[in-house]
Amino acid sequence: MTLLVTGAAGFIGSNFCHHWRGAHPGDRLIALDALTYAGNAANLAALDGQAGFRFVHGDITDGALVERLLREEGIDTIVHFAAESHVDRSIHGPAAFVQTNVVGTQVLLEAARRVWLAGSGREHRFHHISTDEVYGSLGPEDPPFHETTPYAPNSPYAASKAASDHLVRAWHHTYGLQVTTSNCSNNYGPYQFPEKLIPLVILNILHGRRLPVYGDGTQVRDWLHVADHCRGIEAVLRDGRMGETYNIGGFGELTNIELVRRLCALLDERFAAEPELARRFPDAPQARGAPAESLIEHVTDRPGHDRRYAIDPGRITGELGWSPSHDLTSGLADTVGWYLANGPWWTAVMDGSYREWLSQQYGGGVLPQNQEGTS
Ligand code: NAD
Ligand code: DAU
Repeated sequence: MTLLVTGAAGFIGSNFCHHWRGAHPGDRLIALDALTYAGNAANLAALDGQAGFRFVHGDITDGALVERLLREEGIDTIVHFAAESHVDRSIHGPAAFVQTNVVGTQVLLEAARRVWLAGSGREHRFHHISTDEVYGSLGPEDPPFHETTPYAPNSPYAASKAASDHLVRAWHHTYGLQVTTSNCSNNYGPYQFPEKLIPLVILNILHGRRLPVYGDGTQVRDWLHVADHCRGIEAVLRDGRMGETYNIGGFGELTNIELVRRLCALLDERFAAEPELARRFPDAPQARGAPAESLIEHVTDRPGHDRRYAIDPGRITGELGWSPSHDLTSGLADTVGWYLANGPWWTAVMDGSYREWLSQQYGGGVLPQNQEGTS
């Protein structure tokens, strides 16, 4: 196969490229990414220069570029991750979400239609990566989201993803484009940009910054290790039914406050076992004998904050034989270990704009040289 992976330099896209290269070393990967604040070419550094891998710095809204790549590279499969992905940013600036998530998806679909459906057509697949947020919010006793749950997106981000799902569906029904869609729950693992809850909490503990828990912290998310998400996408690409959608989730429901406490406990254990961590991170509470939980602060809630997400993965499990292989306890411990071991990665992603944002949130002097993450 020759795959075009959009958003390949982001969190899940880069994990997917590494996964695919390991599982299908004979396939060709064309990685397309605009390198927005969330994209990081370093996430793909291990693949750079390998035969069968090409990185293209470009925008999915550039239809001419996408069409040229599809033709020149003989691409038969698009795996579409590229998106603006952070709910809080969508509340402050929704326009970028409509542009990338809605217009960008439509541009990709049109390029695929022009190249793949012209003449006699060719074997192809457009796989669209979506989210459980399109289904809205569950009450405490509601059954988990199923593929037939009505759409009820609540944030500008969720609305833009819902719109893109509908476009993908329409290009299948109207034009016969061979599409599949997967709607996944919250991912965690390596290479996640530290604006999202799990890496934010880990890095804030290391730097002695407050841990901002929105509202009462009893909102529930359903956490899935990113490696299991990649395996789920692989299963859909292999055997998924054309025009179908598949929910992917890991039975990992947890309240935010419980998740934050677990991360605090994991870092307390690491500091207790490894005295050199207190020297590397002198501003961490553990360096002065205090537990990480002392940093927890309840802050103003996210507007329109969804209370609970939970996925019923029955279809992908029953039809395609997928099930999660990481449990949340070991997955979180591994993730804490990854961030401790990869200080240079997160030091580098904390560029000018991210530092500015951190300063606004937590005050100046956010990353003095002696705290930067070299191990
Ligand atoms: P991310 O923000 O880490 O990465 C997004 C990537 O897309 C970045 O590399 C960015 O540079 C790139 N990008 C943005 N706009 C672009 C454009 N116009 N052209 C080309 N590239 C562009 O996001 P993520 O967490 O890796 O999410 C990837 C996909 O998975 C998204 O579609 C998201 O909606 C979906 N998703 C995410 C989660 C999650 O928990 N993170 C869960 C379910 C679904
Ligand atoms: O459900 C899938 C979605 O998961 C994806 O589609 C999104 O791209 C991804 O960003 C994620 O959305 P969330 O809004 O659930 O993720 P986030 O990490 O921003 O927040 C997780 C929960 O933690 C949410 O209930 C808000 C809360 N939170 C978040 C941050 C950043 C806090 O309490 N404090 C924080 O500082």
